[in-house]
Amino acid sequence: MTKADRPIGVFDSGVGGLTVVRALMERLPFESIVYFGDTARVPYGIKSPDTIARYAAQLTRFLLAQDVKMLIVACNTMAAVAQEVVRTLAGPNVPVLDVIEAGARAAVAATRNATVGVIGTPTTINSNTYALRIHALRGDVRVHSQACALFVPLVEEGWLDHPVTRLTAEEYLKPVLAEGVDTLVLGCTHYPLLKPVLADIAGPQVRIVDSAVTTAEQAARVLDGAEGLRAGAGSVPRHRFYVTDVPLRFQTIAERFLGRALPEVVRVDVPE
Ligand code: DGL
Repeated sequence: MTKADRPIGVFDSGVGGLTVVRALMERLPFESIVYFGDTARVPYGIKSPDTIARYAAQLTRFLLAQDVKMLIVACNTMAAVAQEVVRTLAGPNVPVLDVIEAGARAAVAATRNATVGVIGTPTTINSNTYALRIHALRGDVRVHSQACALFVPLVEEGWLDHPVTRLTAEEYLKPVLAEGVDTLVLGCTHYPLLKPVLADIAGPQVRIVDSAVTTAEQAARVLDGAEGLRAGAGSVPRHRFYVTDVPLRFQTIAERFLGRALPEVVRVDVPE
């Protein structure tokens, strides 16, 4: 198999990373994708950085063994606290992309008043990684962050436009919007599904940054920037989906995240 034909590896704590897969399928329709979701141990967003780094190393090893040509950390929580582990294991020959880098770049490009809001899981927000990455790109941007612990279960429940979700979102966004942010980063895999409600509450003056879409854009740039990495136009992609728990729940909600029918899902044990 040529390098161009090798798959892109995408991993997440569970089903949420399928928002990134969806964006990748739309942006890079000829690329094969291997997805690995750690459904047995989800959620990560309330776990400690050490635990998450250990899990991330295991997921990375699994995908590297699938001969991936690029790794995408679709989970914001892993990107926030474990991206060094992933990069070290991947080595110099497998580029590693993560949703936070892509989201930070998009936020800096989008803001006009240098005031950005970031919402994510408690672990992502506590790590302060979004603010650090945004400041590394542009030091004068004010970043107002808010942990939204209830969003993941609400999305998995399918309550995308439910009164409870709207009330919860209003409560979470109130302090962020009060700071006058003109850009809001959706710093969690699940939040793109809440985009309509969040955009409605935030109002038309606030630009929403969907890190799934921006990550797919960045993946396209990296593939184009390296010799012989991008699958040729007309290639027939082969997508594979692996999870660590029985796939029933994953399959039930995956189509909502992926926006299309899901092929076969295979359960595997996480390699230590
Ligand atoms: N994938 C996680 C993230 O993007 C959300 C789900 C979880 O907490 O594991 O932060």
